Amino acid sequence: MNIIIFAALLFTAVSGTAAAGSSSSHLSKKFYHTSCPQLFSIVKSILKHQISKERRIGASLLRLHFHDCFVNGCDASVLLDDHGSFVGEQNANPNKNSLRSFDVIDKIKSRVEKSCPGVVSCADILTIAARDSVALLGGPFWNVKLGRRDSKTASFSDANSGLLPSPNSNLSVLISTFKKQGLSTTDMVALSGGHTIGLARCSQFKTRIYKKSHINAGFAKKRQRQCPKKQRIGIDNLAPFDIQTPMVFDNKYFDNLIKKKGLLHSDQVLFSGGSTDSLVKKYSRDNGAFNRDFVRAMIKMSHIQPLTGSDGEIRKVCGRSD
Ligand code: HEM
Ligand SMILES: *[C@@H]1O[C@H](CO)[C@@H](O)[C@H](O)[C@H]1NC(C)=O
Repeated sequence: MNIIIFAALLFTAVSGTAAAGSSSSHLSKKFYHTSCPQLFSIVKSILKHQISKERRIGASLLRLHFHDCFVNGCDASVLLDDHGSFVGEQNANPNKNSLRSFDVIDKIKSRVEKSCPGVVSCADILTIAARDSVALLGGPFWNVKLGRRDSKTASFSDANSGLLPSPNSNLSVLISTFKKQGLSTTDMVALSGGHTIGLARCSQFKTRIYKKSHINAGFAKKRQRQCPKKQRIGIDNLAPFDIQTPMVFDNKYFDNLIKKKGLLHSDQVLFSGGSTDSLVKKYSRDNGAFNRDFVRAMIKMSHIQPLTGSDGEIRKVCGRSD
């Protein structure tokens, strides 16, 4: 009996620390089961506190995870700060003056380091934080596989190369941008539902709200008030993506699209007479279907090209490679 228990412990310890190779098949739900059993409760309690102070933090963390995964995999590359001659992803066009809540990841990491030094990757912390953020804002919860390791570098040019979709993208570009990451059109539409929470800057939606097509006139007027047509005026003013329930994770985003109240051009193209119209209708009617497809797509996205085994490293501080 004792031998069996010992063997089981040994197995979890080994599979938890020495999985070889670089593939999502090496991730596991129990990766930190013995090496950092408090991990989930630490992340959740810090997030609960932070999100109760500012709900937008939940949105910002979800986006950080997405931007991490789409540029050379979920390896925490997006968390590396520029310093000296090193220029990482944070100041690439899709990220500059836009990504936020790095400080929350740092808080979680330093607390995790106290309990389990040198064990938990920043890439996994970001994965868990994105998952918990969605749940804390009222969305679904799911189990995550862990065991990602952290990159030793980050690529400014890759982050600028079109891997991350632009708000002016048309539907075919959105579909192909996600396809490049192994994500289907359904995954793309479901993941776009992430825009049920959070805010965007006027600079990102100005062109859209002064167009006459595929936009609700009252909605356009309302958004124009905080985002004047004149060049460079008010470009950092913020508006919620979801005009109905801005900081609740629900399916109202899709209902907005049907009413032509999508904020970005890239939101509204999902419902403008193209191949994804029926999916948008379905998600707007059926929150359960949206949640199921969103969760499936989040799990797929979180498995993009992880570093595992002895690749990469476990950073001590998420902003710096050792
Ligand atoms: C489909 C292609 C997508 C495009 C073109 C896009 C574009 C954008 C843009 C332009 C912003 C506003 C940035 C700013 O004004 O500073 C934004 C914010 C946001 N995005 Fe996306 N996004 C896409 C997909 C996603 C996905 C897949 C997720 C997550 C599953 C996501 C989650 C978010 C969240 C939560 C925010 C608000 C962040 C905050 O308030 O801090 N987006 N996105
Ligand atoms: C979508 O945008 C791309 C790149 O700007 C362009 O080449 C393509 O023709 C557009 N497709 C449609 C259907 O408008």
